[in-house]
Amino acid sequence: MLALDVDRSGRFLTMKTDSVSCRFHAIWLRDNAQDAETRAVGNGQRLITLRDIPTDTQIAAAEIDASGAVQVRFLPENKAVSFDPDWLMAHAYDTAAPDVRGWLPEGIEPWDAGLMRSVPSGDFAELRQDRDALRHWLGHIVRYGFAKLENGPVEENALFQVVDLFGFVRETNYGRHFEVRTEVNPTNLAFTGLGLQAHTDNPYRDPVPTIQVLYCLESSAAGGANMVVDGFAAALRLRDENPDGFALLADHCARFEYAGEAGVCLTSRRPMIELAPDGELIGVRFNNRSCAAITDVPFDKMEAYYAAYRQFGEIIDNTAMEVTFRLEPGEAFVVDNTRVLHARKGYSGEGTRWLQGCYADRDGLRSTYDAMIRFGALEAAE
Ligand code: FE2
Repeated sequence: MLALDVDRSGRFLTMKTDSVSCRFHAIWLRDNAQDAETRAVGNGQRLITLRDIPTDTQIAAAEIDASGAVQVRFLPENKAVSFDPDWLMAHAYDTAAPDVRGWLPEGIEPWDAGLMRSVPSGDFAELRQDRDALRHWLGHIVRYGFAKLENGPVEENALFQVVDLFGFVRETNYGRHFEVRTEVNPTNLAFTGLGLQAHTDNPYRDPVPTIQVLYCLESSAAGGANMVVDGFAAALRLRDENPDGFALLADHCARFEYAGEAGVCLTSRRPMIELAPDGELIGVRFNNRSCAAITDVPFDKMEAYYAAYRQFGEIIDNTAMEVTFRLEPGEAFVVDNTRVLHARKGYSGEGTRWLQGCYADRDGLRSTYDAMIRFGALEAAE
């Protein structure tokens, strides 16, 4: 049972169902009117600016009409607007604000080595033909920040076909893609076969590349497994073990830099643990190779900052946090580079390893996925 109550001030109304009660302000309702004068019918874009809405906007009356819609009349415009009560409930904001720093939105799931039991993955041919399979696979990347891909073609530039599944390549000074070739033999093992510490790529860019694709074309060397670590899970673990350390890494900017080739000088000033203003955990940057001199931490906090940075690294290096898998030719993995760290384990034998990598944009992936979720049912009905 739906009921409405307009406050005597006209500044807000209260909508009550059997289970919840939510208040909506006059200015918010007016700005979110869905009528044809306020929103373009075709694409839903807003046609007015806030200055077109009177400062003293009030709710004169509100009622539920025969069709169940919420009819609101605004003064001083004397404008009547119809709202879908389900839309209002879905967009309710009269809720308790999160009181923890480092919260994650619904649908984002932190993980550790336990995810090894079922590494998120998809079959390349299936993903190209079956939209349900593609939606499922993209859903893995949204939920876990990475997914594997299997049974792809063993041919150069196949990684672009992976990007074609969800978006567009992001080109950088490393090119449209980059080659990762490793020759492993006993004499140079020490130089090329060593493992790398788990890291996010290119934290010196602003914005960072938000998606990375790594595609395997040759893998005859023993060892060299790929490894991923959930930066969100690591940050939350740091928060639980050392809340002050978590706050130091979140509240102060680190600096990152890459100037390793002619004509390139990439620098950024961002925290290792990035929170939204309301405390949502939105990003992790961690890369020992490109961390520059940190100069934005006050003198009296620097030692504690370094202790937190060390502890964060120890959590990331803890094997209980890592998921490992070996990429065979024709296999790839996609990581959300704002969240999931990746690394390569060391080699133990001879051979070659050849991967191709490229970057893409997470907003494009997310758009493809969300459009499938929001409009998928419509498509299926057509
Ligand atoms: Fe990397």
